[in-house]
Amino acid sequence: MSGRIFLHFNPPEQAVLPPSGFRGPPESEVTRRAEILKLIPKASIGAELGVFCGNLSAALIAQARPTRLHLIDPWWKANGDFYADWGTYTDFGRLGTAQAYALTIDNLVRGLGEGDVHIHNEFSTDWLNSIPDNYLDWAYIDSSHAFEQTLQELYLLERKVKKTGIVFGDDFYPNENHQHHGVYQAVQKFTREAAYDLVYADANMQWAIKPAPHNAPYGTSRLTTI
Ligand SMILES: C[S@@+](CC[C@H](N)C(=O)[O-])C[C@H]1O[C@@H](n2cnc3c(N)ncnc32)[C@H](O)[C@@H]1O
Repeated sequence: MSGRIFLHFNPPEQAVLPPSGFRGPPESEVTRRAEILKLIPKASIGAELGVFCGNLSAALIAQARPTRLHLIDPWWKANGDFYADWGTYTDFGRLGTAQAYALTIDNLVRGLGEGDVHIHNEFSTDWLNSIPDNYLDWAYIDSSHAFEQTLQELYLLERKVKKTGIVFGDDFYPNENHQHHGVYQAVQKFTREAAYDLVYADANMQWAIKPAPHNAPYGTSRLTTI
């Protein structure tokens, strides 16, 4: 049986594809993440926090074939009717937030697999608070990129992701002058304080963390005896 798409809200009337033919960020935004996508557990329950036009969502489905994928983005709730001018990323501010949502649906319909997709027009922390503990096998964080917000997401995910699970994300910039440095800071602080270890980081700014071994006290897996 093929998967279905569930909307957890009423989409606005202006949710149509951009008349300009704009299709979202360039293809390279997906291909630079090819390696990390291979780490996603197959036939699992996952979530993408921060969806935008759904370009990565389609790749997540193609690679991991999740049985259930949750897509969470507060499109117009967070950004108003139009995105700011982020250059080509938002078609220089011409991209409407409802159009980004429409592109997401279009990308999903083209690439839907066997699993179901649930779409939530919500802030990530609100949605994470609404789901049961130990529900997710994985989550990909690509939302606000702000330190406090990302740290809140990580602490919620500590409860919501299974102990066998994995948390990934984009924009791991150690350079403290970079506008997205908050993600790096949050992941560093979280892995210092919680029972999670950094297991992957690459030149394409992708990162992954996993719960530390089951019976180990917090942080033990980072200790080396000499
Ligand atoms: C970089 S884009 C996501 C790109 C997408 N993951 C991809 O790879 O194609 C960031 C998105 O995060 C969303 N966002 C911002 N704050 C958020 C929050 N608190 N929770 C969830 N999404 C958020 C924005 O609306 C925007 O669409």
